[in-house]
Parts: sequence; C-alpha cells; structure tokens
Amino acid sequence: MAILTSRLGPLDLQNPVLAASGTFGAGREGSVFVNLDELGGIIVKSMTVTPWKGKPTPRMCETPSGMLNAIGIQNKGVDRFISEDLPWLLKQGATVFASIAGNTVDEFVRVADKLRTGGRGIAAVEVNISCPNLEDRNNMFSHSPAATAAVVGKVKAALKRVPIFPKLSPNVTSLSKIAEAALNGGADGLSLVNTVFGMAIDVETRRPKLAGVVGGLSGPAIHPIAVRAVHEIHSNFPHVPIIGQGGIAGAEDALQLILAGASAVAVGTMNFVDPSACRTVAEGIASYMDRHHVTDVAELVGALKIEG
Ligand SMILES: Cc1cc2nc3c(=O)[nH]c(=O)nc-3n(C[C@H](O)[C@H](O)[C@H](O)COP(=O)(O)O)c2cc1C
Repeated sequence: MAILTSRLGPLDLQNPVLAASGTFGAGREGSVFVNLDELGGIIVKSMTVTPWKGKPTPRMCETPSGMLNAIGIQNKGVDRFISEDLPWLLKQGATVFASIAGNTVDEFVRVADKLRTGGRGIAAVEVNISCPNLEDRNNMFSHSPAATAAVVGKVKAALKRVPIFPKLSPNVTSLSKIAEAALNGGADGLSLVNTVFGMAIDVETRRPKLAGVVGGLSGPAIHPIAVRAVHEIHSNFPHVPIIGQGGIAGAEDALQLILAGASAVAVGTMNFVDPSACRTVAEGIASYMDRHHVTDVAELVGALKIEG
C-alpha cells in the first residue's frame, strides 16, 4: 500500500497535495466537501498588511481549457487572518501555508512581521511576488531578479525559522534567473507557477471581458507551462524543494509535475469544479504508486527519464 507522506524541504506533509492560494479561501467553504486535515495542506488566499478591496468586476471569465481572473488580491488583511482564520484552521487540524503579498518591500515585511509574532502554528509561507511593485513603475516583483531578491531577503529575515516559498511567475524570459535571485535571498523552496498573463475580448461589445483588461490564465490550459517550469528549475537547482502548480485537473497532471521535480503540488482552478479535487488527486497518486510498486512519493520526485 502506497504511503503518501511527503517531505517538502523541512516540512513533513501527510500527502503531497495542497489547495492553491485564492482557490480555497481560508478553507471554510471547502471544509463542507473535504476534511481539511485530509489535505497535504492549504495555502490560504494571499493576505496584505491592510484589507484590499480588489479590482472592479467582472473579475473572472471562462476561456478554452481554463479561466482568466483579475481579482486584485481582495482580502481582509493579515490581522483578521490571525484572529479569525488561523485559529479555526488549526482547530480543523489543517497544515496551514500563509500567503503574503504587498505593493512595496516594506508592505511584505510588515505582513511577515505580523505573522512571526501572531502566526504561531503556520507551517510555511508562500510569498506571492506576482504583485505590482509601486516602487518600480508597477512592474511585478517576480519579473525582476533584483526586486525578487529584495523582497525574499527581507521576508526571510522577518520570518526567521518559518520556511518561505516564493511563488514565481512564468511570464519571464529566464525563470532560472528569477529562481536564483529568490534562492540567494534565502528562499527555502519555490512555488511554480502563478498564472500566465492573458486577455479576452467580448466581440459584441468590443470590450475586454475583465474590467482589469488583462488577467491571469489558470486551469488545464497552463499545465504544460507549469511542467516545463518545474523541469527547468529542478534541472538547474536539483536540491531545491518545489511546490508544482498550474492546471492540475487529475492525478496524472499532478504526477507529471512530481516526475518533473516537484515535491508537492497545489490544485487551484479545479477546486471550483470539484471542491474535493485535492482528495481525488491524492487518491489517484496512491493508486498510481500501487500500480507501479512505488512505496514512497520521494522515489517519484524528479524521476523523469530523458534518453541520451
Ligand atoms: C480566482 C483565483 C484567485 C487566485 N488568487 C491567488 C492569490 O491570492 N495568491 C496567489 O499566489 N495565487 C492566486 N491564484 C493562483 C493560484 O494559486 C494558482 O497558482 C494558479 O491558478 C495556477 O494553478 P491552477 O491552474 O491549478 O489554478 C489565484 C487563482 C485563481 C484562479
């Protein structure tokens, strides 16, 4: 019988399947469908130092094999996460990954400081650097090695022993350069990938389908992009723990990311189709392991075979 316990850098997870940030809230709605202590972990919606209202509507639209969103990180702020969500999540037995965001390095650090002092029980922090950097003409932090290193270095200094996983954007020329900057800044691992820039137009009205015009593409359409990203980073930085995400619709998609080098995976958009998708994916990984006589998930991590 396959054992799904997985090692993600310094963390021991009961299985390698997490719920991705922004697609499972803080778990309350999803807990009707799946016990949170069954998940490998829940990466909560990104939080900021003050509440953010998010972008105007419409903020989501369906696209072929995926969806676009431009939510604008609507959230109630780190203080309410600490007072309302975290105690509840821990009571459910959830393994909690916080996700932090900001528009300046200082904003990231202020969230990290609050989590260090008030966030007892958090397993790790995903650092969502796919945010506009107000100090760099609104370019995303994750598009610049210098900005990535600056945020990651300061967040790591603030969080000290809590493991951090910067979440990289695939919308870059050299993902490895950004990964290197994050690792030099003190990242304990990497989360790959966030959504892919996209846009859709309603031809009848000639208006963009999203009020924010451009949004993030997610779902099955981006799965090959995620697999390529994980493969590239695992090849260049083989010892770095990776959370693979992007387009997982079933166990086979998760297994591709694991074989490419991810130690854990996160399911995002599929939660909107089936809120128990994480459980189904974990069960599918277990049955694949049984079929292939694999007893430990670690045997599959990076086990891709390339001829030559
Ligand atoms: C509606 C929606 C909201 C999201 N919000 C966040 C967020 O707050 N922080 C973050 O890091 N990623 C966010 N994401 C990105 C997902 O966590 C995930 O990385 C991405 O969607 C790729 O995975 P998927 O194709 O399985 O959805 C969001 C995605 C969607 C669809």
